[in-house]
Amino acid sequence: MSNLRLSEQARAALPGGVSHELRYRDPYPLYIDTARGAEKWDTEGRRYIDFKMGSAAQMLGHCHPAVVEALQKQAERAIFAADCHAFEIEWADWINRLYPSADRTRFTASGSEATMLALRLGRAYSGKDHVLRIDGHYHGWHDYALKGTKPGSNAPPSLGVPQPVTELVQVCAADPIAMAKALEDDRIGTVIFEASGANYGSVPLATETLKALYDVARAAGVVLIFDEIITGFRWSPGGRQARDGVVPDLTTLAKIATGGLPGGAVCGRADIMDLMNNTTERDGIAPAVSHKGTFNASPLIAAAACAAMPYLADGVAQSHADAMARRMRDGMNARMAEQGVKGLAYGDSSIIHVYFGQDTLDGLSPKQIRGLPKAVVNGYRDGMLSHGVDIMSYTSGLTSAAHTPDLIDEALEAFAKTLMDMTRGRILT
Ligand SMILES: Cc1ncc(COP(=O)(O)O)c(C=O)c1O
Repeated sequence: MSNLRLSEQARAALPGGVSHELRYRDPYPLYIDTARGAEKWDTEGRRYIDFKMGSAAQMLGHCHPAVVEALQKQAERAIFAADCHAFEIEWADWINRLYPSADRTRFTASGSEATMLALRLGRAYSGKDHVLRIDGHYHGWHDYALKGTKPGSNAPPSLGVPQPVTELVQVCAADPIAMAKALEDDRIGTVIFEASGANYGSVPLATETLKALYDVARAAGVVLIFDEIITGFRWSPGGRQARDGVVPDLTTLAKIATGGLPGGAVCGRADIMDLMNNTTERDGIAPAVSHKGTFNASPLIAAAACAAMPYLADGVAQSHADAMARRMRDGMNARMAEQGVKGLAYGDSSIIHVYFGQDTLDGLSPKQIRGLPKAVVNGYRDGMLSHGVDIMSYTSGLTSAAHTPDLIDEALEAFAKTLMDMTRGRILT
């Protein structure tokens, strides 16, 4: 069935026609039928080179044979019994070995649930209800995560978030002086930020700044959470913390960490994580910090994650993805220079961001970096798609272990054509 026909049916069945608001697309979204490696095909048989890769989850490429085999085997043994099982221990052992902050790991059913739990642990351990986060960083869609998501705005980008909750969340700039000033408020007991900088490093966070923020949090004695839901298993097998040697108290993981399947995890220091022990009883019955969730560490997902771990733990997949992203960024910068388009392709690790209008980010605020005109963002996204390349969000995308130099070179041709279309259409000047 065509994408158009499916979108008409979807509008009646699903609010907004989608199951995640960012999947909405004008005039209609793609309906993907098949995905393999770094490519995918829609229901009309059109092929795309994929720079979204399951919202950054498919580091090993779509349908990696080891993951598919693990899913098939586990599906025949037990899909879900809501009991303990051996895979969850093996899976936690991988994370505890690879993540410097991890003494213990607790699994959740999504990344948002992981940040929700980490914040609860932070509040419980510190005994303080206020949380500090950084302007423009993303931590999921729950009530405690929304305020501060939109750079330069303290309003939660949704109706229905209780005012008393937003009052407990404070926002500062990604700057050690600003963070130190915010932490003068001794009602704050927890700090959370994306280890990459906002939106997987679209607003980059230099390693010296990361270290300085760490020092400020340490001096204030707060619980420090790194959201490594994108950087985990991407910046390095042990995330940004292992790569750059900056170790938080708690870490949130999902996406690659869960084998590219639904789920999440919080790992961290034993004394904080053990607040969830049934043996540290507060009232003789319950753990100090309650955490439930029917599908946490579901055996199907745990089996897939354990199958993926050997391919994620030695750094080979990450080095390859990094090299492919570097090839793409360098090629994009060369194409922009050739066509006289002012812009910059940049990014850490295996990430590719594009800013149009100037060839440096110097002097730009997070709001400006994330504030390209809609016509530019949509012109770029739609242009790339029409030339067979799907990107992730805004003007950003990423690579995987399955991207090849040939696919990158083909995507660069699509980029060159998109620039020409945008210039001809006066979207770019
Ligand atoms: C940095 C970060 N934190 C949290 C989340 C939320 O994870 P989920 O979408 O699995 O709820 C995401 C999702 O993209 C993310 O990128």
